[in-house]
Amino acid sequence: MPSKKASPIKVFAKAIGHYPGLTLCLILVIALDVVAALAPPLLLGKIVDSLTTTSAQLLLYSGLAYFASLLLAKLLEAVREGMITVWGEKLTHEIRSQMAAKLKKLPASYYAQEGSGSLVSRFVNDVDTLEDLFSSGIVNMIADLASVIGIVVVIFSKSVGLGILLLLFLPIVWLFTVKIQQKSYRAQLDNREAIADADRVLPETTANLLTIHLYRAQSFMKRHYEKILKRSFDAMQQSNFCDSVYSPVVIFIQAVLTGLMLLLASLGGPWQSFFGISAGTAVAIIAYVGQVFTPLSSIGMEIQNIQAAAAGSQRIANFLSAEERPEETESLGNNAKAERKNSLPAIEIKDLTFAYPNGKKIFDHFNLMIREGEKVTLKGRTGAGKSTLFKLILGLYAPQGGSIKILGQDVQTLPDNQKRQLYGCVEQTFQLIDGNLGEQISLRDPAISDQEIWQALETVGLADAVKKLPDGLNSRVTNATFSHGQMQLLTIARAISAKPRLLLFDEITANLDRKTEKRLLEALERASQGKTLLSISHRTELLKDGRIIEIKRNNHN
Ligand SMILES: Nc1ncnc2c1ncn2[C@@H]1O[C@H](COP(=O)(O)OP(=O)(O)OP(=O)(O)O)[C@@H](O)[C@H]1O
Ligand SMILES: [Mg+2]
Repeated sequence: MPSKKASPIKVFAKAIGHYPGLTLCLILVIALDVVAALAPPLLLGKIVDSLTTTSAQLLLYSGLAYFASLLLAKLLEAVREGMITVWGEKLTHEIRSQMAAKLKKLPASYYAQEGSGSLVSRFVNDVDTLEDLFSSGIVNMIADLASVIGIVVVIFSKSVGLGILLLLFLPIVWLFTVKIQQKSYRAQLDNREAIADADRVLPETTANLLTIHLYRAQSFMKRHYEKILKRSFDAMQQSNFCDSVYSPVVIFIQAVLTGLMLLLASLGGPWQSFFGISAGTAVAIIAYVGQVFTPLSSIGMEIQNIQAAAAGSQRIANFLSAEERPEETESLGNNAKAERKNSLPAIEIKDLTFAYPNGKKIFDHFNLMIREGEKVTLKGRTGAGKSTLFKLILGLYAPQGGSIKILGQDVQTLPDNQKRQLYGCVEQTFQLIDGNLGEQISLRDPAISDQEIWQALETVGLADAVKKLPDGLNSRVTNATFSHGQMQLLTIARAISAKPRLLLFDEITANLDRKTEKRLLEALERASQGKTLLSISHRTELLKDGRIIEIKRNNHN
C-alpha cells in the first residue's frame, strides 16, 4: 500500500506535534535567555555612568542587581541547554518509535532489498545525526542568531557609528570562522575515515594471518597500515592547527574592534554626534563585543551540523514513506477457526503468477491443492522457486496474479497474530533471540504456556537435555548451549509450540551428519503427526510416504 510521501520537515513537525507544551516552554526560555544575556552590560554601563552622582548605598544595590542579572543570564543559559537536550531526546525517541512502528508495516521485499546493515544504519547513524540536529543544530542556531541581532540592535541604539563599525567587522569574523570550521570539519572527516579503515584492516589482518605469512605479504601489510596511520596523523595535525589558530585570531580581531570603537568614541568635533558615547556605554560596548563572537562562531558549527543531518533526515523520511504491506483484515482470523471444521483444502493455490521486482516470472498460472493432513514434498532444481513458494504461502510476498488460500483464507489478508496458529515454518538455522530458553521457543507469545513449551521439547526429543540445564526453561541460551543438531531441533520446537495445523520445512536436513539427520527426521515425523506437512527436500527418499511435486521454473501445473 503506498504511504504518504514524507519530507524531513513533515517528519519533524509530526514529532514536535507530540510535545507542544515542551516546545512552547523551550521557545519561551530561549527568548528570556536572549533578553537576559543583554541586560548585564547595560546595567554595568548605567552603574559606571552614575558612579560620581549616586550614593554609596544605591551603588551597592546597583552592584547587587548587576550580579543578579549575570546570575539570571547564566541560569537561563543552563536551563536552555538542559531543555534543548531533553527536547532533542524526546523528538529522536518519537522519530525512532515512528520508525519502529514502520518496521512492522514493511513488506518482506523491503527487507530483501535493503539488508539489515542499511536498516541498522538508518536507526543508529541517521537518527544520531538527527539528535545532533536537535541538540546542537537548529534551535541553538536560532538562539545564537537572536543573540547576535540583539547585540547589534543595542549597540545601534547607543551609537549608529559604532553599530555600523560592528556590522563591518561581523562578516570578516564570520568568513574566517566558516573557513576554519570547514577546514577542521574536513580534517575530522578524513581522520574518521582513516580510523574506520584502520578498524577494518586490523581484524582483516588478524583473520588472514596465515595467508599473509604464506604469501609473504608482511611488508605490504605494514606499508598499507602505515599509510592509513599517516592519513590519520595528518588529519589530526590539520584539525589541531585550526583549533590553535582560531581563538588567538578572533581575540585579536576583537581587540582591534574594541580599540577602534573606543578611539572613534573619543573623537570630538563633528564625529561626536556619530560615535560619541558615555563612559558607561563604552564599558557596556566592550562587554557586548566580547559576547558577540561566541554565538557567531557557534552558528558556523550549527550550520555544519544541519548540513550533515540533512542527508540523514532525508533518508529517514524516505524510510518512513516506503511502501507498506496491504492492511490485514482482523475479522478473518475468527473465520479460520470456524472453517477448520469444514474440509477445506489446507493449501489452495490457484492461477499463481509471481516474479520478483525486476526479475523473470517464477510462477505462471501455477496451481496446487493440498488437503488437510497430507504430506507433500516439493523437489526441483536449485533456483526453481521452492523457497519462493514458501514465502508466498507465508504471505511475505504478494502474488501478481491468482490467489493462495490457507484453510479457505487468502494469506494476504490473514492477520499476523493468527498466522502462528495456522502454520509453523521450520527455518534452516535457529535464529537466537535475546531471551531465555522458554522465550526462544515461544518467542514471547503469551498464548503459549510453559506446558506447551515442554510438550514441544518432548516431541523433538530435547526435554531431557533442557532438564539438565541449571535453570531449565529460564536458562540463558548462547550459541554454545546446544550442538548444531540440537539447535535444528529447537527450530522445530519453536514452529510446533503454537500447535499449528500446517508445517513448512525448507531443506532442514541440509549440512547434517547421518546420525543427526536421522534424529531430526524422527523428530519431524513426531512433530508432523496429524498435521499437514509441506517440505522442501532435494533428497526425496528421506520422506517416503506422501506426494512429491516437482517445481520447475515458470511452473504451469
Ligand atoms: N529476494 C529476491 N529478489 C529477487 N530474486 C530472488 C529473491 N529471492 C530469490 N530470487 C530468485 O528467484 C529464483 C528462485 O529462488 P528460490 O530461492 O525460490 O529457489 P529454490 O528453488 O528455493 O532454490 P534452492 O534449491 O537453491 O534453495 C532464483 O532465480 C533466485 O535468484
Ligand atoms: Mg531454497
